[in-house]
Amino acid sequence: MQRAAVLLVLAFSTSTFSLDNGLMRTPPMGWLAWERYRCNTDCQNDPENCISEKLFMDMADRLSEDGWKELGYVYVNIDDCWSSMQRDGQGRLQADPKRFPGGIAKLARYVHDRGLKLGIYGDMGTHTCGGYPGTTLDKVQIDAQTFAEWGIDMLKLDGCYSNSTYQEQGYPMMSKALNATSRPIGYSCSWPAYQGGLPPKVNYTMLGEICNLWRNYDDIQDSWDSVLSIVDWFFNNQDELQPAAGPGQWNDPDMLIIGDFGLSMDQSRAQMALWGILAAPLFMSNDLRTISSGARAILQNKVAIAINQDPLGIQGKRLLKEKSGIEVFWRPLYKGASALVFVSRRSDMPYRYKTSLKTLNYTPGVYEVYDVFMERTVSTLKDSTEFVVSINPSGVVMWYLSPASDWQEEADSLRFSEKLIGRKFHRHAKDAHAPLVL
Ligand SMILES: *[C@@H]1O[C@H](CO)[C@@H](O)[C@H](O)[C@H]1NC(C)=O
Ligand SMILES: *[C@@H]1O[C@H](CO)[C@@H](O)[C@H](O)[C@H]1NC(C)=O
Ligand SMILES: *[C@@H]1O[C@H](CO)[C@@H](O)[C@H](O)[C@H]1NC(C)=O
Repeated sequence: MQRAAVLLVLAFSTSTFSLDNGLMRTPPMGWLAWERYRCNTDCQNDPENCISEKLFMDMADRLSEDGWKELGYVYVNIDDCWSSMQRDGQGRLQADPKRFPGGIAKLARYVHDRGLKLGIYGDMGTHTCGGYPGTTLDKVQIDAQTFAEWGIDMLKLDGCYSNSTYQEQGYPMMSKALNATSRPIGYSCSWPAYQGGLPPKVNYTMLGEICNLWRNYDDIQDSWDSVLSIVDWFFNNQDELQPAAGPGQWNDPDMLIIGDFGLSMDQSRAQMALWGILAAPLFMSNDLRTISSGARAILQNKVAIAINQDPLGIQGKRLLKEKSGIEVFWRPLYKGASALVFVSRRSDMPYRYKTSLKTLNYTPGVYEVYDVFMERTVSTLKDSTEFVVSINPSGVVMWYLSPASDWQEEADSLRFSEKLIGRKFHRHAKDAHAPLVL
């Protein structure tokens, strides 16, 4: 088993050096305003949902009081439309005085007092996407300094009202400027998303040296179609994208929309599972004040989170795309463990997919299989054992597999199959060649 684990790691090793700020050795987790709240600045008529200090204080309260923080969801992130339309007399960005009467520094203290971190948003161009003041090259230093003085912990730097030559200068310049403040500030770069997201236009080696995470592709919207288009793009381009990720440097397929309006519970589990395979940042964009218990359970699933947060930080891949509409994804994890995700893109009924671990490239051995969303160990599987998983339409089955430690040699296989037969799988001797139904 030891040998198998080493081979898996080597096959996926990343060779790049990451941004040296010591941050985000596992994908960052938290909450981000954009997808759910957009540029809603109408606090007069919609005080609960407008971009204001109240919204971020409410979410900080929920993260710290409802069990999120302990699971790793610690960032409270502001997106666009927070600032005043004008810089102040000294050329510094300032928060909209009506919607953030206490200012950002006070909001940062509020968030820090609850053991959380505060993220903010800027734009490497003349204006933000929402038309607020951007960070032009002459403002990079002063903006970095302002964010540091406020106690900001993370910056998302968007790329509207800009161009490729400008971004080529500006994104590395901001990285240096953040470092020069001597405050550790996580750095999210939207740069690749504005350059098509792929080499040779995008240099992922360089991105890993200057950013902690980066948006590669389109914004997520509140629909299953949007999730699928993102998933397809990331896995269709996995050979280019997968090696770019690692501790301190992550591909970002955008926010989790679990708890909003567009996904069923099955689709929500699918997003959680695939964001785990992708080693993606987990930024929820939802209303934590009113989230359903079903959505909360998915987002707070400990094993799904542990897979996402695996210390090796190796992004996973799509192994198979079957004509039947079943797709299989795999991610290698710490200590020879791994995650498997079976996705159904069908729209008829639960599909019974038959395979074996050997077919999925597993090295010979015996593996203990834990079903992440059923929250229980479902089987011990020999690599050659055929099994059947039942996958709901637009749903997933997510497994955490670890090498069974007491496995010796072929000699044990008889004892092993007896053990299986004796368990809850209703396998009778005469069905010895039938696949195991899980
Ligand atoms: C790129 O954007 C900058 C800033 O707006 C502008 O000064 C420059 O002329 C632009 N360059 C091109 C090639 O459009
Ligand atoms: C700045 O960069 C240096 C050298 O790469 C690194 O040692 C240091 O921790 C960085 N500081 C911050 C605040 O990011
Ligand atoms: C990409 O960036 C790296 C590191 O900055 C550099 O060494 C390399 O030459 C760049 N690659 C290309 C194709 O420009």
